[in-house]
Amino acid sequence: MFKKDVYIERRNRLKNKLKGGLVLFLGNKESAMNYLDNAYHFRQDSSFLYFFGLDMPNLAGLLDLDSGKEYLFGDDFTIDDIIWMGTQPTMKELSAEIGVENTEPFSQLGNYLRNAINQNRNIHVLPFYRGDTIIQFSNLLEISHNEAENFISIELIKAVVDLRSIKDKYEIEELIKAAAIGYKMHTTAMKMAKPGVYEQEIAGTVEGIALAHGGLLSFPIILSQNGETLHNHDHSNILQEGRLMLTDSGAETTMHYASDNTRTVPVGGKFSQKQKDIYNIVLNTVDHVTSLIKPGIPYRDIHLEAARIIAEGLTNLGIMKGNPKDAVREGAHALFMPHGLGHMMGLDVHDMEGLGEDNVGYDNEIKRSTQFGLSGLRLGRKLQEGFVLTNEPGIYFIPDLINKWETEKINTDFINFDKIKKEYINFGGIRLEDDLLVTENGSQLLGKRIPITVEEVEETMKS
Ligand code: GLY
Ligand code: MN
Ligand code: MN
Repeated sequence: MFKKDVYIERRNRLKNKLKGGLVLFLGNKESAMNYLDNAYHFRQDSSFLYFFGLDMPNLAGLLDLDSGKEYLFGDDFTIDDIIWMGTQPTMKELSAEIGVENTEPFSQLGNYLRNAINQNRNIHVLPFYRGDTIIQFSNLLEISHNEAENFISIELIKAVVDLRSIKDKYEIEELIKAAAIGYKMHTTAMKMAKPGVYEQEIAGTVEGIALAHGGLLSFPIILSQNGETLHNHDHSNILQEGRLMLTDSGAETTMHYASDNTRTVPVGGKFSQKQKDIYNIVLNTVDHVTSLIKPGIPYRDIHLEAARIIAEGLTNLGIMKGNPKDAVREGAHALFMPHGLGHMMGLDVHDMEGLGEDNVGYDNEIKRSTQFGLSGLRLGRKLQEGFVLTNEPGIYFIPDLINKWETEKINTDFINFDKIKKEYINFGGIRLEDDLLVTENGSQLLGKRIPITVEEVEETMKS
């Protein structure tokens, strides 16, 4: 945990942004995997962690905006619990660690909330993303599950997004620690990418590195020689010479700050010329994007710049045709990069996505496009100093999508379908992903850069 002043200050800043009523943060509960006592690994709610820091189930935090009082609701462990869990801190000790003055048994929370309702006071909550939280909240207020969403407060969402979007120095230290774990994960995967090895051997080893550093993966690992499937969680293939292995993976630190990197490497350690040609377009795109990142520029505009570089590169190879700028305007490049350039990152790998993607990545000035490809961009708004984001362009040859576009004659002026079908249909996919902090005048890579040039990758794979 951070020092208690960090949490006190965060809560004070939040209270200053809001007008009146109560703010409720329900912490997460254990979630049963196949029976009640065999739970998934516990993951605390990220906004609860941000304001209340306590990484354990069955807690709630309450801020009274009118009196300024702060409460932690939770129950002391009984001796029966302690026999199984070991010695545990009391609720009083826990609330002292985060500078909260008032501690109440969980059974009192419903009374507080219902009293507030009876006095016509507002209760602000963040969006629900777990069914058991909706049930819990509905039970506390004695309302139906459908009524629970009436309490989701856009005022609270906006205030939380404002605060969590700008990373403080303590968070940046954690994000750099997560990056260091990610470095080990990716360089290990590179060294293991030899013909005859099962993808799952590498995936398991990489996940083990995250575990060995005290946290978990920041999301289920994407690792496959079928990298054209964007989120490929099937690791059952045996790696084959001549294929590319795409690994998209990151760790959470013990404090739950994330890393999220992607590297794509040639199985066996040597890129072919054909692979290098596509790889270097993606690499140029990542580097160009990094050079453009600075406060004030909309990430949507940088996404479109990335699209232009990809379209130019593919046009030079004869895979696309026509004017690349026109191709990007029409969305033709999205056949090869059907996803967005990146997203915020912090306590969630897609930071704050539980609060609504558009509430995090867009605003009144910049609205999400509906065009295929650009519509997948999670972060479009103007960048600010202190944002942490990913830069993750890619080029993929997705047979089903290529066939669909060809059959439906989509963007035929810009796509050389014959060449693709003859030469690239089994190419796979390449994505490269770096994590960056937006600084006063530009950006800073989080941690040491994972080998990325053709030479660096080949050198690493040799060792
Ligand atoms: N979680 C996969 C990615 O955004 O890169
Ligand atoms: Mn990723
Ligand atoms: Mn990402």
